[in-house]
Amino acid sequence: MKKIVSMCGIVAVTGYKKAIPLLIDGLKKLEYRGYDSAGIAVINSETKEIICNKAEGKLKNLICNVSHTNIEGTIGIGHTRWATHGKPEVKNAHPHVDNSGKVAVVQNGIIENYQELKNRLEKDGVVFHSDTDTEVIPHLIQKELIALNKLKLDNNGSTLLVAVRNVISDLEGSYALAILWAGAPESLVVARKQAPLIIGIGEGEFICASDTPAIANLTKIILPMEDEEIALLTPLGIEIYDSNNERQYRNPISLQISEQVIDKMNFKHYMLKEIYDQPDTAKNWLEKYLVKDSNTGKLEVNYPFDTKFFESIERIEIVACGTSKNAAMVGSYLLQQFSGIPTNVFYASEFRYSPPPLLPNTLTIGVTQSGETADTIAAINMEIKRRSLMSEKRYKPNILAITNRVESSIGRKTSNIIDICAGTEIGVAATKTFFAQLLSFYGLAIKFAQIKGSQSNQNIRELISDLVQLPPLVEELLEKHNKSSAKLAHDFFNVKDVIFLGRGINYPIALEGALKLKEISYIHAAGYPAGEMKHGPIALLDKKVPVISIATPGEVFDKVISNAQEAKARDAYLIGVAPDYSGTEIFDYLMTIPLTSEWISPLISIIPLQLLSYHIAAHRGLDVDQPRNLAKSVTVE
Ligand code: AGP
Repeated sequence: MKKIVSMCGIVAVTGYKKAIPLLIDGLKKLEYRGYDSAGIAVINSETKEIICNKAEGKLKNLICNVSHTNIEGTIGIGHTRWATHGKPEVKNAHPHVDNSGKVAVVQNGIIENYQELKNRLEKDGVVFHSDTDTEVIPHLIQKELIALNKLKLDNNGSTLLVAVRNVISDLEGSYALAILWAGAPESLVVARKQAPLIIGIGEGEFICASDTPAIANLTKIILPMEDEEIALLTPLGIEIYDSNNERQYRNPISLQISEQVIDKMNFKHYMLKEIYDQPDTAKNWLEKYLVKDSNTGKLEVNYPFDTKFFESIERIEIVACGTSKNAAMVGSYLLQQFSGIPTNVFYASEFRYSPPPLLPNTLTIGVTQSGETADTIAAINMEIKRRSLMSEKRYKPNILAITNRVESSIGRKTSNIIDICAGTEIGVAATKTFFAQLLSFYGLAIKFAQIKGSQSNQNIRELISDLVQLPPLVEELLEKHNKSSAKLAHDFFNVKDVIFLGRGINYPIALEGALKLKEISYIHAAGYPAGEMKHGPIALLDKKVPVISIATPGEVFDKVISNAQEAKARDAYLIGVAPDYSGTEIFDYLMTIPLTSEWISPLISIIPLQLLSYHIAAHRGLDVDQPRNLAKSVTVE
């Protein structure tokens, strides 16, 4: 069955304040979840009618629409959408409303059996107005409300709650829902299954949203909803029920995030600013995680787990997506080659359906900057469940999260968290979070090497001291390469394909260089382990295809140079990311990087590649911070 995928941010509010400014403010904070259309619905305070307003494209279009209306209401729902099916047109934007105009729904997720439900509704004469999966929900709720009224239930929030509960029992897939009904004009019903939803408790209002930043402006007191819960929100209170219809009572928690003012400074795009943030990213990470041992006076990695945590681990598996997976691959190289621990990296989307056999004393690491990536969360959930079914202690859930959002879904799954401390990243293309994820893996590799005794003290000291040198090194690199990569971009902004080559610890950097270029410039790019090129990709080469080769002195330097020669022999224009070093004269253009130890070279070689991608995309006049078809946080599979 073809799935309709809708990946979005939702926000809902009920209380005594004007709803529209709260909804718009919430949607601004959720735009990272999708930005191809947006919409809101409120119940008009006077007429008690549902009024909907939707716009194609970015949120600013909706804001412009709304500014031309004078709707007043204190209850409403809002949505920002990312879609792969059902074009980003107004008709597919949420909220979706039933044919009586009395029920409005916003949804984040996938209703997998929507076609079957739609067929059934159409047989009963229901007319559909969109191509989405979500539209079945308001129609089903309206049908249910009619049936319930026949049973003479009161026209209040409880009736809506019962109707929604009955409807969601027929839904297959994952969803976070917020529903308005004109019949209960102060009540909101929200429900979730495998998609995040958090309730915020304000002063005189309740707000509910897909993620905490949409709530943080209004309140810091939150109640994250558990999976398969449904809740009724009115200005007077909240009722939460689990899937067995048992009322749930638990204390709210306080939100540990502060509202960050994110300024573009004088940069043209957030992405460029975030690339420039990296010396500070390094400083923050070093300050937080490298501390002087009070006995020896030496710097040690200070992660918030005790030695026992590391001692029992015999192997590691890492699950991640996209850029986080590329960081994980550098991590895997370090954990195996530096710390001597067998480590495998998996695409989370593959792992969740075909995990390796469960072995004892395995640490599973989920890497996700957002902490919300659906495949990564599902892979981690599956691993927690798989292990909980084993009685032996050596299978006990050993889960670690590496994330920039400790308060996110992944942060709530485990108490073993490395907070990468990169600060908010606005650009959809990850840059400083990648850098901070890398640093976090260096910390882990050092910790494991010490505890397992797999490296000499001197090697460990050298690596720590190399890390300490990073902030000024990265600063210099930025100075050096910003202008030159803008110039290089001028020559290459029109190419159709680019090949990135790297080996060993820099192979994942070739992958990341290619991913950065394609996601923001829409130029086809592919990263390969340099030694693999001759096994197929070499057929792509001619003078129109630039080859960018990362060549850092160490184990495989000569091999990378030979592979670059092979590309040159096929007329490719060769760009090197390498120090000024014997052998690098073969490059037609050299993006010079300082000579460092091979171990830390990924933290250096990525910088010119980020800058080059940025400048190519900017030169092409593209929307660098919000590239087409992407979202900062991919919350559906
Ligand atoms: C990064 O530039 C990409 N936009 C994307 O690949 C991203 O890394 C991926 O979706 C995983 O996100 P996460 O780190 O939030 O899990």
